[in-house]
Amino acid sequence: MPDPPLLLAARRRPTPFTPVWLMRQAGRYLPEYRALRARHAFLELAKTPQTAAEVTLQPVERLGVDAAILFADILLIVEPLGVGLEFAKGEGPVIHRPVRSEADVARLAPVDVASAVGFVFETVRLVKRALPLRVPLIGFAGAPFTVASYVVEGGPSRDYLATKRLMREAPNAWHRLMTLLADATAAYLNGQIAAGAAVVQLFDSWVGALAPDDYRAFVLPHTRAVIAALTPGTPVIHFGTGTAGLLPLLREAGGDVIGLDWRVDLDAGWRAVGEDVGVQGNLDPVALLSPPETFEPAVRSILRRAAGRPGHIFNLGHGVLESTPVEHVKALVDMVHELSAR
Ligand code: CP3
Repeated sequence: MPDPPLLLAARRRPTPFTPVWLMRQAGRYLPEYRALRARHAFLELAKTPQTAAEVTLQPVERLGVDAAILFADILLIVEPLGVGLEFAKGEGPVIHRPVRSEADVARLAPVDVASAVGFVFETVRLVKRALPLRVPLIGFAGAPFTVASYVVEGGPSRDYLATKRLMREAPNAWHRLMTLLADATAAYLNGQIAAGAAVVQLFDSWVGALAPDDYRAFVLPHTRAVIAALTPGTPVIHFGTGTAGLLPLLREAGGDVIGLDWRVDLDAGWRAVGEDVGVQGNLDPVALLSPPETFEPAVRSILRRAAGRPGHIFNLGHGVLESTPVEHVKALVDMVHELSAR
């Protein structure tokens, strides 16, 4: 059995076609997910290994993607801090006791990862047993900055005012919070790897809000610490959005594959991170709302820019949107396989 295409690409080895998976491939655009969600709250689905494994496998069977992504959330790791995490209806995540000061940081409970998120490791074991050998499981966690942004803001944010103020006004508290998150995140990812995740992705979804100098001073050392602490031999995908001006710094922080969003041409992004790492991306998720013949030129353009060089994993530039027709997603996966066959 040769290595699965996604693992080969993550190691910049040649593949018979460009492997493809999609961020948020498990989620609300899938009718079978919505059917389960009608009966269970999101956190209940994520915390029950049997249902979390079922949701992880749903898109693999339906779409023919080259990887499964664990069904979980980047905020599961903050629940044990005692900040009052809730997934409120229609609003996304809410943190009832946001962390805004030195005293708030001092109050955080240390995370005992094995006991706090053991259910995730059990999900990984169940999924691993059920997956075909050619489909590796991608484990994931939020990168310290993106997770900290929720913990500080109390939910999603547009301008990250409280986060940026904490960085500047209480840098010691900021670094303490980031160190605590980085330690927990490394243990969390290593637990997923030990349980059977073949690749891990670090989501720094909102890091594009930062000036490069702020990334260097307040974020890079912590993301680097997470990646450096991971079990050797497991490829790491390091992803962010709005990162066109940060790409060399993301690469400096680490990762075998750097995720690109759609705001940068794939070949320019690859040059910016360096040709000695892989890249993942980078179709605009909104493109999938329109019929396949309308997004085919963009898919061809991405593949042309990758030019068959080993190390490209096809993906969207961010997650699948809820209103995306499933047939369009399936058409994309088939299109990437057909157009990239070598
Ligand atoms: O298919 C997959 O990608 C795996 C599952 C996954 C989820 N969240 C499930 C989920 C992954 C990889 C995540 C990561 C995640 N979670 C990120 C980083 C990726 C990104 O999108 O940038 C972030 C920022 C979060 C935090 C989060 N969780 C938000 C902002 C929301 C609400 C917004 C939304 O899309 O609903 C969630 C909830 C969430 N996480 C859902 C799912 C399927 C929807 C919950 C529901 O069913 O109501």
